[in-house]
Order: sequence, then structure tokens, then C-alpha cells
Amino acid sequence: MRRLIPALVVSLAVLWLPTSWGETVHLDEPGLWERISSYHGVPSASSDGVRVGGVRLARGVTACAPNTLVVGLHGEARRFEAKVGLRDVTSPAVVRFRVWRERELVWESADIVSNTPPTSVSVDLTGARYMTLEMTASRAFYTGWGVWADATLEMNPGKRPTDVAGLSRQLGILTPPPAKAPRINAASVFGVRPGNPVFYRVPVTGEGPLSIEVVGLEKAPGLTFDPNTRRLGGAVARPGDYPLAFRAKNAYGTAEKGFVLKVGDRLALTPPLGWNSWNAFATAIDGEKVRRTAARMESLGLVDHGWAYLTIDDGWQVKAKGTTPADRRAADGTVRSNGRFGDMKALADAVHAHGLKFGIYSSPGPTTCGGYEGSWLHEFQDARTYAQWGVDYLKYDYCSYGQVAYGEGLDRDICPYALMSRALASSGRDIVHSLCQQGRGNVAEWGASIGGHCWRTTPDRFDFWADVVSIMDCHAALWRHAGPGGWNDPDMMLVGKTVWGVRSGFGGTRLTPNEQYTHVSIWAITCAPMMIGCDLEDLDGFTLSLLTNDEVLEVNQDALGAAAAPIDDDGEIRIWAKPMADGSVAAALVNLSPLETEGRFCFVRNGLTGAWRVRDVWRQRELGTFERCFRASVPGHATTLVRLWPVGSAGLAAGLSDVRDNYWRRRIEAHRPLEGDKNFKASSATDCECVHQQRKEQ
Ligand code: GAL
Repeated sequence: MRRLIPALVVSLAVLWLPTSWGETVHLDEPGLWERISSYHGVPSASSDGVRVGGVRLARGVTACAPNTLVVGLHGEARRFEAKVGLRDVTSPAVVRFRVWRERELVWESADIVSNTPPTSVSVDLTGARYMTLEMTASRAFYTGWGVWADATLEMNPGKRPTDVAGLSRQLGILTPPPAKAPRINAASVFGVRPGNPVFYRVPVTGEGPLSIEVVGLEKAPGLTFDPNTRRLGGAVARPGDYPLAFRAKNAYGTAEKGFVLKVGDRLALTPPLGWNSWNAFATAIDGEKVRRTAARMESLGLVDHGWAYLTIDDGWQVKAKGTTPADRRAADGTVRSNGRFGDMKALADAVHAHGLKFGIYSSPGPTTCGGYEGSWLHEFQDARTYAQWGVDYLKYDYCSYGQVAYGEGLDRDICPYALMSRALASSGRDIVHSLCQQGRGNVAEWGASIGGHCWRTTPDRFDFWADVVSIMDCHAALWRHAGPGGWNDPDMMLVGKTVWGVRSGFGGTRLTPNEQYTHVSIWAITCAPMMIGCDLEDLDGFTLSLLTNDEVLEVNQDALGAAAAPIDDDGEIRIWAKPMADGSVAAALVNLSPLETEGRFCFVRNGLTGAWRVRDVWRQRELGTFERCFRASVPGHATTLVRLWPVGSAGLAAGLSDVRDNYWRRRIEAHRPLEGDKNFKASSATDCECVHQQRKEQ
């Protein structure tokens, strides 16, 4: 017996050990840390040492604050441990670290300053499905390089954490394959100035050969149509609305769509759709890449889906450094392109030949952000030169203007843009003016009034979920400033392969497939200018499917031009909605949680009465008729985009003007809950119980 007891203890211990010891996983292992949303620099991981506050630690993940990282634990983690602090660098900074156990803050550091020895963190994670690691930077320093050093997750035996994509099913391609029958993808309005050249290619998809006709052309004297190039041209001298119709025919059917050419002083009646070189190539852009991209936009069918602009961003002028004024401008002051671009008129012609409008970039300062020649003191001359070249779009980037600006407010923020708007308007060509000054001086409030057609609302965006969320937060209050002729611009899109993305990502971006659906849906429903930012010569099928969904683009290009507002929340599902010109409502159910979540768009709370027919916009599929609410299970960080049409006597509650009215109620309620407003308030729990009649399959 005496011998038996120790033997029993040993064998019990052997049985017990594997289940209790668990696995130690280092945060710096590949697959866990790469999606850190680090705005100001690329995060890195090291397993051979990192210095924090003068102490050398074995390994760590370093990222520039502010940033966040979601790690999938799936209920299999026990503990997170790390040492935190700032990487030893010369510039001083202050960073605060936080650990969230799902949505609960479980640990927070003090404000940690540079050269402080590491602080230890140890957090129980039992049962948590995910955790979020966060670093925020003190405003005074703006950024700082923080380190999660010697960071480990203790997992249950045989279990491993995942990145955010592993927390939910990921959506694949939802866009149906292209139909053979013709479809006219044009917005139903287009604005031109009286007497200026019209350049408009009718976007039509469907199997060739396709014949396209314009009905009513004779009513617009001066307007021409070339069925081979599918282009409206000529010029219309007399201001007014010219109702036309496009008719497209092929072996599979006929499509017809009404269209109004509005000759007046307003351009960009719907948000510009196009491609911009910056996110794809930065300053490594050249004329050859521009030509090839234009050809790709046509051959991929993007032009036929309505993508109409190709814009060269920074890098086409002559660099200021190491050159003389004579290198940068001709004797008469005409701006020169650099050797990589050659003759700009020839380049514009080449782009136009693919049915695309041609855009370029400059700055109101002496130099662009990349250090190339700007338009300072040459505004009217540059606008005229652009018009001669055949430019249709100008992105005008603040850059060095701060060096030559004087005063504050009006003088600093508004004048340079007002001046260029005047110059473009008198150039003799319709040139869309894109104000790029990262939201300075509340640009959304005055951008349209000084002749801007769109205005960047934030600094540059990168391919991080945190960036997509911050765009949503920023645009939550800006929607009321957008409308035909002037749009809030949240920056170029970050789907596909960009210079910033990771090559191993989904299509080249760090955004998960679900996050990409949210990205594109939000750009579409908020009526953002949509500028493709990826390399079109290296494009995967998934990314192409995101860019060629005609019903999604239709939400963006709707002639009413109403940008969506965030009208309601159902737990972590945020509902954005907007009215459409045909009386329907477009709604996005955005899942802010990394986990699949069921969300409801409650009709009564939001002022919708009766039954509504609902269509899934991405899948282009009818979902049936819903009363009281529409319910959907939305994968983590994804968005369900729907369109709702009132059935019979359904509509908005009496006295409401549009579905966005609930935005204001929410804001008031945030401070003081309203009682008894029948237009909105759910009067009983059953008001949000969905009644759903499945559509009978034909
Ligand atoms: C930034 C701008 C970017 C890009 C870049 C070019 O100011 O926000 O979109 O144009 O300059 O240098």
C-alpha cells in the first residue's frame, strides 16, 4: 500500500498535467498581430529583443499609437500577460495601454512616458471570445511607439488564438455573375455647364454586340451621340433640363432608362466614381501606368459599370528639389509635367479614348505634399492649362499652403479653394473640384458654397478596420452637408492591392472580407465619391466583385443624392438609412462586433409604417415582405445592405419628411429620453417583433 500511494499520485499527476498546463502562445507569432490598426507607421514584431525604458526584453509587438488589435480567443484562453512601455527612441511620447475582455475594460495603464521601465499586465481571460488590445497617444505628442513586450496568451491545451477573421464566418463573393441582358448603369442625371464640351460615356453592361440609342437627342441642340464610342459629346448652349432616354439592345433583351442632362452651373450631381493613383502607386506613378490602368478599366468592364474618372495623384509635376523655376514652368509660366508623363494632352486623349474622364492633382501651396510644383500664384493659368489638356477633375491638396498662408479661418482654409473654384469655373471646361484638405475648418459646412464638388473629411485612411469605423463616426454628423453637386469625401477606397496593404491579406488589404463589405457599403450609402485605390493590373476576383455590383453602385448614384444617416442602434448593429429617388429606403445594418450578431431594423421606432418589401442589395435578391422590422444575422464586422419598398399603404409616419428624421430623435434622446412620440417610439415590445413573409419563389 505504501508503494501504491506514490504511484497513484504520479499517475494522477500525469493525467492532470496535459489538461491544466495549457499552451503558451506569443503575441508576436505570425497571424496574430498583423492587423494592428497603426495609423502612422507599420507595426512590427520581433522575437529577438526589444528595448523598453532602458530594459531589454526578449520579444514584442511594436506599433504606433493610437492603435487597436482584436485577438480571437474562442473561449479557450486563460490569461494574457505582457510588459508594456514605449520603445526606446529619441522623440518623447506618452502612451496609455488598455486591455478589453470583449466589451469590458479589464486593465488600463497610467499615461506612460518615454524612458519608463516596463509595466506588467496580467489579465484573466477565462471564457472570453475575444480581446482587444489598445494603445492611445496623448494629444500633446500625437503618436508614440508602444510595445506589448513578452506578450503571451495562455490557452487551453491544443487551442490557439486567431486573428479577427477567425471570429466569424467570412463572406465570399455575393455579387451575382454578370447578366447577359443589357443593363444601363448610368445615374439618371448629369450636370454640364452651358457651352462647355460634354464628355459622357453611357455605361451599359450585357453581352455584346450591344446597340445603344439616345432618345430625345434632337431636343438638346448641340448635343451629339456616337453609338460606337457610346459617348455624348458636343455642347449645349442654353441652360435647362433636357430629358433623354438611353435604350440598349442585344440578343437577350432591351433596357431603357430615363436620363436628364442638366445644363446649368452645377457639376457632380451624383458622387464621382473613378480610380486614383495614390493608394496604388504613391509617387511611383507614370504615364505608362496611367495608360495601362485606363485600358484595364475598360477591359475589366469598370467603365460600363459607371466608373468614370481616372485621376493622377501626386507626382506628375516637376519636383522642386534640385530644379530651377525654368525646369518646372515654361517661360510663360505654363506648368510642365515631369519626364515620366510627357505630353499631358496626349495622355488625357489616351484616357478619354477609353471612355474615361481625366483627373489630375495639384496644391494651392508652392509645392505638393510630395514636393512637386504646386499652383501657388498660378491658379488661373493652371486652370486654363488643365482645360487645354482636357482635364475633367482636379484634386487640390492643401500640402505646403500653410507656409504661405496668412491669417486664420477664411484666409487660411477657404481662400485658396474659393480661388481655384473660380479659376476652374472660368476655364471653359467642366472640371470637378475635389477639395483635399483633410477636413480643415469644418470644410463640409462651406465646401459647396465656394464651388467645391467634394471635400475630404479626414486625414489619409489606411486599410484598417479602425479607419473604417472612424470614417463612420466622422460622417455620422456630416451627412446633412452632402447633396447633388457637393459630397463628403472619406478618402480613396482600400480594397484590393495598395502600396499600404499586406500582400498576404484578402486581395491585398488588411481588411477582412466582411470588413470590405462594410467599407464599400458605407461609401455607397453615404454618397461618398468612390475612388478605387488599388492596382488594377493585379486584381483578384473578390475585389472585382466588390466594385462591379450595379445595385450597390445604384445606392450611391441615386439622383436624389441623399446621404445616409446613422438612424438607430440595435446592440452592436448600427443602422444607416437614406431615402432613394423612387420612394424606397436604402439601409445598412453594420455589425460593429467581430462576432456574428443578429440585428433588427425596427420600423416603428424609425417612423416606418406598414409592410415593406425588402431586397438584399449585394446578393441582388428579394428577401420577402416584412412588417414591424427587418431582421438579419450579420457576420462579424460585415454589413447587410438592403433596399425597402413600401407595400400598399405603407410609408412614413405622418409628419415625417424622410427616414433620416430619426437621427435627430436619437441625438435628443441621448440626453433626455423622449416619452410618447408616436412617430418613433416603440409602444410595446411587440413593435420590434418582425413579421416576415418569405417571397414565393417563382
Ligand atoms: C495627401 C493626400 C493624399 C495624397 C497625398 C499625395 O495629403 O491626403 O490623398 O494625395 O497627399 O502626396
